[in-house]
Amino acid sequence: MIRLDKFLAEAGVGTRTEVKKLIKAKKVTVDGVTVTRPEQKVNTTDAVSVAGKEIVYEKYSYYLFHKPAGCVTARQDSMHKTVLDYFPEELQRNLSPVGRLDKDTEGLLLLTNDGAFNHYLMSPANHVTKTYYAVLDQKVPETAVNLFAEGVDIGDDKKTLPAELHILPTKSDEEKTTQYAAELTICEGRFHQVKRMFAAVGCKVVYLKRIRMGSLTLTDLKKGAYRKLSQEEINRLKEEKG
Ligand code: URA
Repeated sequence: MIRLDKFLAEAGVGTRTEVKKLIKAKKVTVDGVTVTRPEQKVNTTDAVSVAGKEIVYEKYSYYLFHKPAGCVTARQDSMHKTVLDYFPEELQRNLSPVGRLDKDTEGLLLLTNDGAFNHYLMSPANHVTKTYYAVLDQKVPETAVNLFAEGVDIGDDKKTLPAELHILPTKSDEEKTTQYAAELTICEGRFHQVKRMFAAVGCKVVYLKRIRMGSLTLTDLKKGAYRKLSQEEINRLKEEKG
């Protein structure tokens, strides 16, 4: 049994303060009866409704987060802001990041409290593909395309698994600053893998963003924002082995 306000906050109805207001405003019913005490205990199987709309308690939550640079992919850190600091306390519910992005890397990060799902996505046998947009300090040699496709030695016991590299056209802005960029799709998650792969062909990554995981993209999710994954998206990820 859990408190009604906790139930509603964890179900994503609002913050604890917001849901308390809804309860006090007599908008919440449990098994058809209006409840006015936020501390009332409910079962996760009870029929809870807010303004006539049934709220289903989900055991697990899955979020897609647009990680900004400058925060660390950890649950806690004594020095730096973490990815969890972007979530209100009532949604954190033992959320853990799925894999990690470096502090200076931006982009798509999944968080869940479903340990089995996290483990599944991280297992080398099931890794879904991940695409990164990288800006580099110099032009990526064309030979890197085949090298990455075959697997490259980045100083580990084994070469990397085949990866797909697209070198993007070189751009120059009004100040004549030239930008060298590429998109790289990998299906592993080794430590600093993208940076080390580019380093293996003599390039330094100066900006890195994960833009895709399986078929998931950030679409118009702003930096620092998150959204729930739909059941369909969760199922699709499970099917999208690398
Ligand atoms: N590869 C890297 O080098 N850094 C990241 O953050 C992710 C992949």
